[in-house]
Amino acid sequence: MKILITGGAGFIGSHFAVKMLKEQHEVAIIDNLHPYYSVERKKQHLDVIKSAGTFQFYQTDLLDQDETIDMIKKVSPEAIVHLAALPGVAYSILRPLEYIDYDIKATVNVLEGAGRAGVKQFLFASSSSVYGMMKNKPFKEEMAAGKPISPYAASKYAAESFCHVYGHLYGIDMKILRFFTVYGPWGRPDMAIANFIKKLKAGEEITVFGEGGSRDYTYVGDIVNGMSLALQNLEQSAILNIGSGRPISMNQLLDELKIYFPDMKIKREGDRAGDVERTWADISLARELLGYEPEIDFSKGIAETVAWAEQYEKYL
Ligand SMILES: NC(=O)c1ccc[n+]([C@@H]2O[C@H](COP(=O)([O-])OP(=O)(O)OC[C@H]3O[C@@H](n4cnc5c(N)ncnc54)[C@H](O)[C@@H]3O)[C@@H](O)[C@H]2O)c1
Repeated sequence: MKILITGGAGFIGSHFAVKMLKEQHEVAIIDNLHPYYSVERKKQHLDVIKSAGTFQFYQTDLLDQDETIDMIKKVSPEAIVHLAALPGVAYSILRPLEYIDYDIKATVNVLEGAGRAGVKQFLFASSSSVYGMMKNKPFKEEMAAGKPISPYAASKYAAESFCHVYGHLYGIDMKILRFFTVYGPWGRPDMAIANFIKKLKAGEEITVFGEGGSRDYTYVGDIVNGMSLALQNLEQSAILNIGSGRPISMNQLLDELKIYFPDMKIKREGDRAGDVERTWADISLARELLGYEPEIDFSKGIAETVAWAEQYEKYL
């Protein structure tokens, strides 16, 4: 299959591109190497992809509508996997308008290109954050009720609606996957696990926000498996949670890291605005429609991530 991956130089995109190349698919990537985090790191991701096979790379900004549409027509993929976005809840509170550009407008440009180029299927990277503040029980897809609590989450929810519009207008199979806190090798440096490991390796104190919360941490290998299944095993539009289905509390995470960093020093701070207290994926629909099953338990996932950090210390 010919697959166009937007945001392919990012954390999840690079893992997904490697998987697709290993499975003999034809891969094209669009990424503007946005400096939200180190551009050097993104170039390193591209080198990792290169070691898995050849692919086309276009350093293009999806905010340029004409160029985006032309490029999609030129590549003419069977599937678009749209991962490009400005991520991060905390930054979205500081710069909300940037999220309207990068997470909504850019998505509409890609959808417009997909429609005009006759793309058959579109996979959109949405987020567990669209659920907003929820009670302590598994989140089912229909529980997202338009009550996000950060500009990032609101932008993802809006982008989901545009996906629905374009699926309807152009008859594209629209696969909206809601990822739950993704971690693993090459993990995004602004996210808790990667940030903690970097600081702990340097002997620095880590800052823990809020108390009592939990996250459905999902290993990146499981996320890209779910994406691959959605492309290859599903011939309809759907909104699906892709998570691990088991929440991990902050104390469990800290205990797991203490195995590797027993001298850990922790500074506690209050809740951060925009952060939800907990996430917990109900993955029964993904199981049923895709045959999705997360494989990496949290201890193994952390072991793999710490081992990666040892090997690639200079990129942390
Ligand atoms: N990492 C997670 O835990 C998580 C959870 C839920 C959803 N998601 C979503 O998954 C997707 C990938 O996340 P990630 O963690 O790999 O982030 P990332 O920042 O590592 O990757 C995003 C990539 O998109 C590129 N990009 C951004 N704006 C662009 C534009 N206008 N034109 C071209 N390229 C652009 C960036 O340069 C970057 O390489 C995002 O849509 C994110 O919102 C991630």
